Amino acid sequence: MDLGLKGKVVFVAAASKGLGHAVARGFAEEGATVVICSRSEANVTAAAKEIARATGAEVLPVVADVATADGCRRFVRAGLDRFKRMDVMVVNAGGPPPGRFEDLDESKWDTAYEVTLKSAVRLTDLAIPELRKTKGNLLYSTSTTVRMPTAYVTLILSNALRAAVHGMLKTLSKDLAKDGIRVNALQPGRIQTERIEVLDTDSAKRTGRPIEEVRKDWHAMIPLGRYGDPKEYAAAAVFLASERASFITGVSLQVDGGMLPANW
Ligand SMILES: NC(=O)c1ccc[n+]([C@@H]2O[C@H](COP(=O)([O-])OP(=O)(O)OC[C@H]3O[C@@H](n4cnc5c(N)ncnc54)[C@H](OP(=O)(O)O)[C@@H]3O)[C@@H](O)[C@H]2O)c1
Repeated sequence: MDLGLKGKVVFVAAASKGLGHAVARGFAEEGATVVICSRSEANVTAAAKEIARATGAEVLPVVADVATADGCRRFVRAGLDRFKRMDVMVVNAGGPPPGRFEDLDESKWDTAYEVTLKSAVRLTDLAIPELRKTKGNLLYSTSTTVRMPTAYVTLILSNALRAAVHGMLKTLSKDLAKDGIRVNALQPGRIQTERIEVLDTDSAKRTGRPIEEVRKDWHAMIPLGRYGDPKEYAAAAVFLASERASFITGVSLQVDGGMLPANW
């Protein structure tokens, strides 16, 4: 299937590692030009080189912290200066730290608000005028916790703020349809990345159990019996943002091996 992504310019935030990296590579494999960012120059440059080498695509690395207004602007401006257009914006950021409510003081909430909600607001704000010109689309990477937060009692920062992102994107999907802009989201469940390693290590420490047991418990909750591969996540992202998904907007698709037990 030709996904119609050749020659498109795709911005993927927080993409030196993990889900963002896999998503950026997925678009590059389909012939898109990719703009990626992360906070570390070494990480983002290495990621861009690796994706370019593997796919032959043009990949622009930008050093930018999306938790700041300046970082979001720098990311978008660098890509537009170089490629003069934006067809897709993938909104993504690092996850807030784990912790129960009583582990967290107000400053942790403030930081998480900037990383998770404000980054999404700012990247959306910068992307909309460009996507109006190209009839492009917004794709948010959120979490299955927007549907079922209760399995993650130690992720209260993420659970609270991602729900806000979800409310924003769902509302936007209706509002921006008149401009030909589609707005969708992907919900990762447990996709094997460094972030999941950090969370499983944290759970192991809190419960005094070996990390293998923590993983085994998660695998048992996932009907497909394993964590996802970032490539499997990327495949869903690439499809949703492609021309082949032209009648899909306002959707939030879980990529979780069947973990969510809900009807919808
Ligand atoms: N993996 C999963 O199954 C899963 C499930 C649910 C939700 N999520 C969420 O999805 C997001 C990505 O997860 P992941 O598993 O890919 O995490 P990861 O493996 O920790 O990778 C995070 C990436 O984001 C970059 N980054 C972090 N903070 C940033 C910032 N403020 N500005 C710019 N770049 C930033 C990091 O690069 P630098 O260090 O170089 O900045 C790295 O490239 C997180 O919010 C996570 O909580 C993941």
